[in-house]
Amino acid sequence: MTTDTPNTDKVFIFDTTLRDGEQSPGATMTLEEKLQVAEILDTMGVDIIEAGFPIASNGDFEAVATIAKRAKNAVIAGLARAISADIDRAGEAVRHARRGRIHTFVSTSPIHLAHQMKKSEDEVLEIVTKTVTQARNLIDDVEWSGMDATRTPIEFLARCTEAAIKAGATTINVPDTVGYSTPEDYYQLIKQLIEMVPNSDQAIFSTHCHNDLGMAVANSLAGVRAGARQVECTINGLGERAGNAALEEVVMAIRTRADALPYHTDIETTHLSRASKVVAAAANFPVQYNKAIVGKNAFAHESGIHQDGMLKNASTYEIMTPESVGIKSTSLVMGKHSGRHAFKQKLLDLGYDLADNQFQETFQRFKDLADRKKNVYDDDIIALVDDEIGSAADRIKLVDMSVTSKTGGIHRCELKVSVDGAPVEVAFDGTGSVDAIFNAIKAAVGADPHLVLYAVDGVTGGTDAQANAHVRLEMNGRISSGNAAEPDTLMASARAYLNAYNRLLVERGAPAQGALAG
Ligand code: KIV
Ligand code: ZN
Repeated sequence: MTTDTPNTDKVFIFDTTLRDGEQSPGATMTLEEKLQVAEILDTMGVDIIEAGFPIASNGDFEAVATIAKRAKNAVIAGLARAISADIDRAGEAVRHARRGRIHTFVSTSPIHLAHQMKKSEDEVLEIVTKTVTQARNLIDDVEWSGMDATRTPIEFLARCTEAAIKAGATTINVPDTVGYSTPEDYYQLIKQLIEMVPNSDQAIFSTHCHNDLGMAVANSLAGVRAGARQVECTINGLGERAGNAALEEVVMAIRTRADALPYHTDIETTHLSRASKVVAAAANFPVQYNKAIVGKNAFAHESGIHQDGMLKNASTYEIMTPESVGIKSTSLVMGKHSGRHAFKQKLLDLGYDLADNQFQETFQRFKDLADRKKNVYDDDIIALVDDEIGSAADRIKLVDMSVTSKTGGIHRCELKVSVDGAPVEVAFDGTGSVDAIFNAIKAAVGADPHLVLYAVDGVTGGTDAQANAHVRLEMNGRISSGNAAEPDTLMASARAYLNAYNRLLVERGAPAQGALAG
C-alpha cells in the first residue's frame, strides 16, 4: 500500500458541490451553509471550487461573490451559459477572487442541438468562439464545456474544442452529462480528443461524469488515464439525478492505488470525513450507510472472520485506514457530567469546529439531551450538531406544541411558532398525530406544500434514542428536504417539516407566510 507518490502528475480537483451538487432536488443550501462548505473545501486543498451559477438568482450571485472574496487558496469559478448576460454576471461574481474563473458551456450533441437549442453545428461553433472570447476579455482563466459531450460526434466536439482554445479557453471540460459512458468509451473519447485537436497542448482537459449508471468515478479515472488532469466532482457524490463523481472516492482511489493510478492530488485526505458530514448536514442529504470512504459502515467489520483478521492485523481486511480519511477511533461516551472542554474535544474528534455562538447553542442542547438520556453517543452528537447547523437560519421556528390523541377519537395539535420573530398560534385536527401536526403547521404558515417523503429512524438503539425525522416537500416545482433530531418523535417530525418549509423560502427570499401557497 502506498500514499502519494512524488514526481507523479498532479490531478487538479474541481469541486462542484455548491453548483452541480446544489442542483440536486432538495439540496438547497443557505448562504451560511455554502460558506461553511466552501471553507472546508478551501482548507482541504481543493484546487477549484465552482461556487455557483451567478445568473440563477441573487442568492447564487451573493454566494459566489462572498466565497470569491473569502477563499484563501482555491480558484473560485462561476458558471455561465453561452449567453452574454450570464458571462458578465459570472465575471462580476468572481471579480474579487484572488484567482477567479469563468466556466461557460454550450450543448454540442445532435440531440440537444435539435431539440433544445434548435441551432446548427456552424451556429454553435460561432457561439463557442464568441462566448469564450467575451469571457477571456473579463478574466484570464476560462473553462469551456461542451454539454452532452459524450453523445457528440467526436469530429464536431474536436472542432468546438479547437475553437474554444483558440478563443482563449485554458481548461476544456468533457461532460458525460447524462451518465451514459462506460470507462472504455470515456478513455477513448478523451484520448482521441487530445490527439485530434491541434492546439490541445494549450489547455488542461477535464472530466465531468454523472453517475446514472454508477460509473462516474470509474469514468473519471479512465479520463485521467487518457490524459485529463482535472476531475470535476462533488462531496458525497451529490449532484443532478444520481449525482456526480464522488470527490472522496476519486481522491482515495488515486491515493490508495498509486500502482495502477500513478498520479497525485493535493487534497489533505484527513478532512474527507468532516467534509462529508458538513455537506450532508448543509444539503440535508444523508449519506448512505455503505457509501465508499465516508459511509457509516465504510470501516465497520461485522462478520466474525473479518473481525478475527482485523484483530490479528488490520491489513487483512483494510486497504486504507479510517484515520487517513479523518475518522478517529474514540470510545468516550458523554453524559450529563461532561463539561464544556470534553464536549469541545468530542466535537473536534468528530470533525466539527463550530463557531463560538454555534458551540454555545449546541452545548446547551447537549446538556438538555444528557438530562433526559443517560448515555449520549457519538451518533447522538452528530445528529444534534447537524440539526443545529441545518436549522440555524430557519425563519419559522417551533416554540411550543401539544398533541392529544385518543384511540378511535380525534387527534389534535395545538401549535405555537414564531415567524420572523412574531408569534403565531393555531390548533388543527388530523387523522393521526403526525397529520394533525402537519396540518397545524400548514395553517400557521398559510401554505400547502405537497409532502413527498416523511420518514423517522432512531439515531441509536433503545426506546430512549433520539428520533431522526426526515421530511421532503414540493411546491411550485421546487423540492426541499428537512431534518430534525429530538428524543420525542412528534417534536422531531414537526421540526423536520418546519426545516423543510424554511428551505423552500431560502432561495427566493420570499415572505415567510403564504408566499409559496398554490
Ligand atoms: O453535466 C453537465 O454537462 C454540466 C455542465 C454545466 C458542465 O454540469
Ligand atoms: Zn453536471
